[in-house]
Amino acid sequence: MTNATNIIADALKPVLAESVQLYVLTQNVHWNVVGPLFQPVHALTEEQYLELAPAIDEIAERIRTLGSKAPAGLAAFQSLGDIADGDENAAAEAMVKTLSAAHHQLAERIRPIIGQAAEAGDEVSAGLLTDRLTVHEKAQWMLNAMVA
Ligand SMILES: [Fe+2]
Repeated sequence: MTNATNIIADALKPVLAESVQLYVLTQNVHWNVVGPLFQPVHALTEEQYLELAPAIDEIAERIRTLGSKAPAGLAAFQSLGDIADGDENAAAEAMVKTLSAAHHQLAERIRPIIGQAAEAGDEVSAGLLTDRLTVHEKAQWMLNAMVA
């Protein structure tokens, strides 16, 4: 395994951590949202966490394929990732905005790594990350449209 691939494996670790943090935040909203937006927010967040679960597995398995151990504990995810826990008592609109901001945060985490991976000749990681970026940009649109 070359140094370049190890650099990409290391760059994928915070992406994994923040994807898990986003999963937890998404379920917080799914479970605790109240008010007139309940039904659409409850339904959209279910679609989102169901999409995230296999993506988390794919990112972790890419890290393993590149020769690194995948961080896999809650403490590791907290030290590697910067997406904060949600507030289960927040109003629905605030929950949606917080969730959109978390998708934005992860998208901006991912964006520069795509070029780094391509430059390192790691087209597979670049492709995986491009797919993840697509999902997180689309999620921002859908969440923002809900509270526009
Ligand atoms: Fe559910």
